[in-house]
Amino acid sequence: MLIDPFGRRIDYLRLSVTDRCNLRCVYCLPAQGVAGSASQDLLSDAEIARLVGIGASLGISKLRITGGEPLARPGIVALLRAIAVIPGLADISLSTNGVLLSKMAEDLRGAGLARVNVSLDTLRPERFPAIARRRGLENVMHGIHTALKVGFSPVKINVVVMNGVNADEIPDFISLTRRLPVHVRFIELMPIGETGFFNSRRWLPLREIQARCGPLEPLSRAKQPVGCGPAVYFKSPAGLGRVGFISALSCNFCGRCNRLRLTANGRLLPCLASARGLNLRDCLRSGASDAKIAELLRRAVAMKPQRHQMAPEGGRVRESFMCSLGG
Ligand code: 5AD
Ligand code: SF4
Repeated sequence: MLIDPFGRRIDYLRLSVTDRCNLRCVYCLPAQGVAGSASQDLLSDAEIARLVGIGASLGISKLRITGGEPLARPGIVALLRAIAVIPGLADISLSTNGVLLSKMAEDLRGAGLARVNVSLDTLRPERFPAIARRRGLENVMHGIHTALKVGFSPVKINVVVMNGVNADEIPDFISLTRRLPVHVRFIELMPIGETGFFNSRRWLPLREIQARCGPLEPLSRAKQPVGCGPAVYFKSPAGLGRVGFISALSCNFCGRCNRLRLTANGRLLPCLASARGLNLRDCLRSGASDAKIAELLRRAVAMKPQRHQMAPEGGRVRESFMCSLGG
């Protein structure tokens, strides 16, 4: 079992499988994108599967595949199939921007994936390209419907709330939970990445987000949906779905942290806000034994800070593009 210096049990790995993306969301990437890693610098399928197996033997039971856009990694279905059979993994999910989801949902489900989270910040066709700097809303909506149809459960929709950009759509996203059995999660904007997008005018604090939601019914602990993360859930009256909130700044979630992150090029990060991390890839490629790799995982857990130091008035996380962390 992996326990960090603050007594938190670490059983969740967020694994980025690519640092490339087919969108350019304003808070995440600069308009011109970033040079993705060369393919030989990414962990291979075999390296990932080995690492996940070692993690599982240490008590990592939950895994989330992220990117960049994970569905843009060639061979992602085969990779999932290889991971899904690793003993000890109870929960495998994937975060996607949804653009390629409708085409791939059935194969992903067949490969053993249980759940998907779709990032979607607007329901308005004219606004989508302003936020994501690419077209794709129709594909994403089609992807969400297909995901429900093939039986992913739950299907979560992550909405990064930005004042003056999409905060006026909060009621529309709540309405979506009345029409579809989806979990909409409003995410407070975080000062992360090198885009210069974050500022205190764009940051809408959690209590403001909640004030714009209208009346919501709290859910008892027993009814909180499956998930591994920091979201707190409610239900809208007559709602099919759920409404959740994730706040990094107003309401620090670090006390319940249960995770490690691995970047696509194999750096193991103790925290979302860690700039560098441990180079697991070189360790894997230098012929390290399983015991040595397990040691590195333990070291990353031992390096976990008590909490991140991000703050609305600065403390921007440098050198860490969200696109290589996957949220
Ligand atoms: N603030 C809040 N959420 C972010 N994400 C990416 N960058 C940020 C940011 N600066 C979200 C994405 C996605 C998840 C992977 O992380 O929108 O939902
Ligand atoms: Fe791509 Fe997600 Fe970043 Fe948007 S937030 S550019 S979808 S990685």
